[in-house]
Amino acid sequence: MRAAVFTETGGPLSIENIDPAPPGPRDVVVELGASGVCHSDLSLKNGYVGIMPGTVLGHEGAGTIAEVGKDVSGLKKGDRIIASFIPACGICWFCLHDQSHLCDTEFEIMMKQRGKRADGSEYSAMTGLGTFAEAMTCDQSSIVKIDTSVTDDQLALIGCGVTTGVGAALNTAQVHPGATVAVIGCGGVGQAVIQGARIAGASRIIAVDPVELKRKTAEQLGATDFVDPNAGDPVQQVQQLTSGRGVDYSFEVIGLPETTLQAFNMIRKGGTAVMVGMTRAEASVTLSTFDLFFNEKTLKGCKYGSGQVRRDFQRYADLIETGRLDTSAMVSRTIKLDEVNEAFRAMEAGEVIRSVITTF
Ligand code: APR
Ligand code: ZN
Ligand code: ZN
Repeated sequence: MRAAVFTETGGPLSIENIDPAPPGPRDVVVELGASGVCHSDLSLKNGYVGIMPGTVLGHEGAGTIAEVGKDVSGLKKGDRIIASFIPACGICWFCLHDQSHLCDTEFEIMMKQRGKRADGSEYSAMTGLGTFAEAMTCDQSSIVKIDTSVTDDQLALIGCGVTTGVGAALNTAQVHPGATVAVIGCGGVGQAVIQGARIAGASRIIAVDPVELKRKTAEQLGATDFVDPNAGDPVQQVQQLTSGRGVDYSFEVIGLPETTLQAFNMIRKGGTAVMVGMTRAEASVTLSTFDLFFNEKTLKGCKYGSGQVRRDFQRYADLIETGRLDTSAMVSRTIKLDEVNEAFRAMEAGEVIRSVITTF
């Protein structure tokens, strides 16, 4: 089976044949229909967070079940699914308290060995998935069955970008009708935040990104105002667009300390800044505790859009099916598995919103 494997920090992924182990009793084998290439794949490849050589990358996928283990219930061969990059076990403390995005089984599932590479060494899979492959074997808690006519290339985006971005607006921030919103970083995830804010009824959605293509796409997807951070201080530009007050909600969707600080500084008194981007493991930021106290600001972390995947995945698929959520404008290119390294280059060059692998 062909897969794109991480072998060395900063180097290209290696396209190779791997030999998956037979599925365990709670495992499901999924034939992938599509896999999006997300910035987190690039960040792992570049050592933002340490991972083992011999990891199949990819965490944003949709496909069809090919085989189920003997103890799997509620799923069968032929079911269409979306992969959840955080498992939702359904029985840990967090799953039982409506916070499946913080599920306790995450690390245990992520570390599992899944089979052998051609040289005989074991491989594991990013977030317990590994969607840059013809097929993946994963725990049943990592997949959600979906009933939809939406094609896999669109559906795959629900696995990360849509759930993270739309969820940041709807679940984490709970943007209210008429709210003012700024989104710093308008890649695949940022465009989904913009759409979440639009769906929530925000009156003003300010897209902040240095790349013109990103600002143009943001306009198509519901942004009302545009800020080029290279044209002047983005905090001041956002304040000017909101009567000097600052926005009700800001979202950092890159993963950098300096833009996190900008997000905090551009909210109004009583506003909320949401940190969506994944930073380097060792990154930190210094902010004014006086500003936090005196202006009663909130800075919130946001993991996986605070998504409850067994509730939200079908909801997002329905929003796409009925045209309320536009994923087609987010898929810039459909590519082959062999082109994944080229997709990373295009991402870094700002040429694409998302590249999606549809041929494996
Ligand atoms: N100010 C504003 N925008 C910026 C800046 C900046 N200083 N620097 C970069 N950007 C923009 C880029 O131009 C790009 O459009 O941020 C965007 C990042 O988009 P992608 O690379 O497509 O990343 P995406 O897949 O959307 O992921 C964003 O969310 O899931 C996490 O790990 C992921 O941290 C990453 C973030
Ligand atoms: Zn992702
Ligand atoms: Zn759980």
